[in-house]
Amino acid sequence: SCYGCPTKVSCKGVGLHKFPKELGQGVKYLELSNNFIQNLSGSHTLGFGQLEYLDMCFNQLEAMSATALAQLPQLRSLLLGSNHLDHNYVANGRAFHLLRNIEVLDLSANNLESHMAGWYISNLTKLRMLDLSGNKMTRLLAGIFWSTRRLRELDLSNNYIMEIEEGAFEALEELEVVNLALNSLHCISGFSLTQLRVLNLSHNALELFVSEEGVEPYLLQVLDLSHNRLLYFPELPKAHYLTHLNLSNNLIASLLPGSHHLGEFVLRYKEMASFNGTSPAAAGLTHVADLDLSNNRLQLFPFTFFHSLGSLRSLSLAMNCLQEVARESLAGSTEPSDRSPAPPEHAALSVRSLDLRSNAIRVLPRWFFDSLPQLETINLGSNSLQPCGGSRVPAPGGNCTPFYNMPHLKHLNLHKNNITRLRPYAFNQTLLLSLDLSGNKDLFMPKEALGGLEFSLQKLSLRDNQMDNSKAELPCLGTLKVLDLSGNNLSLLPTGLFCSPLESLDVRHNNLLTLEKPALTSWSRSLKDVAVAGNPFSCCSLAWLDTLRAAGVGVRDLDKALCAYWDGSRNFSAKITSSPRWLCPRPRSTSPLALLVVIIGIFSLSSGACCLLKKGQKSLGCAGPCSKKVGVFPPHPKRDEPAEVKPADSITKV
Ligand SMILES: *[C@@H]1O[C@H](CO)[C@@H](O)[C@H](O)[C@H]1NC(C)=O
Ligand SMILES: *[C@@H]1O[C@H](CO)[C@@H](O)[C@H](O)[C@H]1NC(C)=O
Ligand SMILES: *[C@@H]1O[C@H](CO)[C@@H](O)[C@H](O)[C@H]1NC(C)=O
Ligand SMILES: *[C@@H]1O[C@H](CO)[C@@H](O)[C@H](O)[C@H]1NC(C)=O
Ligand SMILES: *[C@@H]1O[C@H](CO)[C@@H](O)[C@H](O)[C@H]1NC(C)=O
Ligand SMILES: *[C@@H]1O[C@H](CO)[C@@H](O)[C@H](O)[C@H]1NC(C)=O
Ligand SMILES: *[C@@H]1O[C@H](CO)[C@@H](O)[C@H](O)[C@H]1NC(C)=O
Ligand SMILES: *[C@@H]1O[C@H](CO)[C@@H](O)[C@H](O)[C@H]1NC(C)=O
Ligand SMILES: *[C@@H]1O[C@H](CO)[C@@H](O)[C@H](O)[C@H]1NC(C)=O
Repeated sequence: SCYGCPTKVSCKGVGLHKFPKELGQGVKYLELSNNFIQNLSGSHTLGFGQLEYLDMCFNQLEAMSATALAQLPQLRSLLLGSNHLDHNYVANGRAFHLLRNIEVLDLSANNLESHMAGWYISNLTKLRMLDLSGNKMTRLLAGIFWSTRRLRELDLSNNYIMEIEEGAFEALEELEVVNLALNSLHCISGFSLTQLRVLNLSHNALELFVSEEGVEPYLLQVLDLSHNRLLYFPELPKAHYLTHLNLSNNLIASLLPGSHHLGEFVLRYKEMASFNGTSPAAAGLTHVADLDLSNNRLQLFPFTFFHSLGSLRSLSLAMNCLQEVARESLAGSTEPSDRSPAPPEHAALSVRSLDLRSNAIRVLPRWFFDSLPQLETINLGSNSLQPCGGSRVPAPGGNCTPFYNMPHLKHLNLHKNNITRLRPYAFNQTLLLSLDLSGNKDLFMPKEALGGLEFSLQKLSLRDNQMDNSKAELPCLGTLKVLDLSGNNLSLLPTGLFCSPLESLDVRHNNLLTLEKPALTSWSRSLKDVAVAGNPFSCCSLAWLDTLRAAGVGVRDLDKALCAYWDGSRNFSAKITSSPRWLCPRPRSTSPLALLVVIIGIFSLSSGACCLLKKGQKSLGCAGPCSKKVGVFPPHPKRDEPAEVKPADSITKV
């Protein structure tokens, strides 16, 4: 049941209980993962002298003999994750010492304690990549990596490491990538692994991260400190190459120097004596492009702090407690500044993407945007901002935020800001491509509100605003492609829409009885998909559906859409997909008999039959349906005429 070519064989998940014997000589690459192999002894590996790669992850391995491994001198990669190598570890480890050429070793999820892991790797001098994740290690002993000096990548994530003995990493001069995520580290001090490029310390309990003073510059590029308990921005004065710094999900309340209060630490560290935090923490971080400070406790957007981050492109301060943006250097002060029109000199930040979602911002002053001249994307969802009107008349109260005149801004999200009214030309001269105004209950949007976006806006969301027809007016948006109107109370589509080349339309959960033909006709060339469920469509005017189908538009949720019909005494609701259209009153029908309707239905089953029936009357348009299709829509049954023949059981009910 194994397959592959002579040198590369896979027996993955085929139920093996033993190492497969019958494979030919010369196998170099062997995959045995997801089986039930328990032991590996000398007789098994005889004849596998060419083997370079062996994957035995997800087996029941607990014993590997020295003879077995000695017979694999070419082995470079050995993957043994998710086995039971905590059993017999002394004997197994002794066997491992013979794996002279091993470069890649996976010992993840084997229940290994620190000393077991240390024993396994204690003679693997050529090791480049080591995976010890998902074990039970609690500390890294000083000598653990003494013989594995060429280690480049080390995964220690998901253990219980609380302690790293001094010098544990000292021998590892080529180490570049270390993953210590999901451990129990409380403090990193004297961090001096200058050769590291990627360090992941996320999901620990770090309160303090201090680099060593006076060392040479660090090569570190990626530092993930997310999900810890940091109270302050880490001190990284010499991390000049750092591009990606993740501090999300910590307890950072201030980025200002001098705001440290040692009393806030849960534990005491001797490093605190020298730790006085007056150095500007961001000083050396000239290459940081991506800084994530989401889910912390910041109350101020500290402009000055970000000034030294000259390469910053993407900044997230989502889910903090921001109320204000701070205008000037606020050293020593945590008071929110009063609003002043004067922007600081040389204040421009290079940020292109800014995430300020889920804060408590009420207003952003003009200078804020002026200081972000390259801003392309801003997420301001879940705040309390009110956009100003675009005209020169100042808004009453003056506590609105100007979104006009920002030529570089392309994506604006104002989801859930409790915006009740948009003023005319709110986005004038801001060539937005996408605008999210969803979740603003009872939003009133007059026709002029989106004035100025006629030739730029491509994507608009007005979802869950409970707007009725009079509140949702749109100008002619000549480039709009994606529109979400779901969760409103519209019984008509906004008329301005008809000049948009819509491709995707969501009108779920509104009050629509039908979709008007003019609209559908105007979108016939562009529309690709619609979502319609949750409207009180009438079963007797489903011509819109035929129109959509004929135009090849996908109706995403047709199986969930219902329609209502009146049977003379009460309203019924039916699935549109099984809609009983033959019950509907037929305005021009000469016979009240439903049976006749059904018969006509049968004859109109195919266009061929239709032609035969009407052969003598070419002038009445028969040629149309049967000849080559012309025009935008292929022909389809006339509105309100039975289009489908129901199965016999439906007919007998009639
Ligand atoms: C595997 O090896 C262990 C220890 O050498 C031994 O006790 C056990 O019986 C062996 N199991 C099998 C299935 O060979
Ligand atoms: C360690 O590996 C070397 C070869 O790399 C070998 O000569 C030596 O015997 C091994 N030591 C032990 C204790 O197995
Ligand atoms: C760090 O590890 C965590 C947990 O495994 C993971 O979610 C995160 O993506 C890693 N960070 C980086 C930068 O790879
Ligand atoms: C930072 O870490 C969080 C949590 O691990 C993750 O969701 C987020 O995507 C990371 N941010 C960046 C910019 O990688
Ligand atoms: C604070 O730290 C700086 C450099 O880290 C040092 O020069 C200064 O003496 C320290 N101040 C105090 C009061 O410890
Ligand atoms: C839109 O902005 C332009 C340029 O600033 C201005 O001339 C025009 O009056 C504005 N339109 C409205 C309606 O405010
Ligand atoms: C929304 O705004 C109105 C006034 O416009 C205010 O009365 C109300 O409390 C606000 N709601 C929330 C959730 O902020
Ligand atoms: C929706 O609009 C109708 C009138 O068109 C009104 O009677 C109804 O109360 C509205 N529903 C909601 C939830 O606002
Ligand atoms: C039946 O539904 C139609 C439209 O859906 C409505 O106008 C009519 O009032 C309803 N009749 C009853 C009795 O509910």
